[in-house]
Amino acid sequence: MSNRTFTMIKPDAMRNGHAGAIIDRFIKEGFRIVALKQTKLSTEKAGEFYAVHKERPFYGELVEFMSSGVIIAAILEKENAVAAFRELIGATNPAQAAEGTIRKMYATSLGENAVHGSDSDENAKIEGDFFFSGLEQF
Ligand code: RTP
Ligand code: MG
Repeated sequence: MSNRTFTMIKPDAMRNGHAGAIIDRFIKEGFRIVALKQTKLSTEKAGEFYAVHKERPFYGELVEFMSSGVIIAAILEKENAVAAFRELIGATNPAQAAEGTIRKMYATSLGENAVHGSDSDENAKIEGDFFFSGLEQF
């Protein structure tokens, strides 16, 4: 069990002005910021990031959406970070997300669901290293 996870605040939440509230929530829930930056994914980079979903019907839509505006990428640290963070963000579809979760509060739809959270320790490491060099992770 690793104590780090990777997240992105997605373009919908950025456009809707929720970035500050979402980062505040990360901190209040006890996640320490290891790395954080605002950036924008090209369609090529978004396609690479979500390559595991290449065969899924929503892949094209997902890549288009994730490259449609700026995002905030971050590495977060807390005990049992991957599972704790996925509990904090709630179900993929905000309609099914529990009350008080970030997706319930800030997501727009299944496709535009405010935040990303890594699904395993292995992917947390791969995804964090996709955005941040060793010199940017403290
Ligand atoms: P994420 O990777 O963004 O944290 O989300 P997740 O694990 O809860 O969901 P995942 O199955 O990995 O799907 C990745 C993202 O693809 C979009 N999606 N759209 N239209 C659809 O049917 C559909 N299904 C998934 C969502 O933005 C989801 O977060
Ligand atoms: Mg996922």
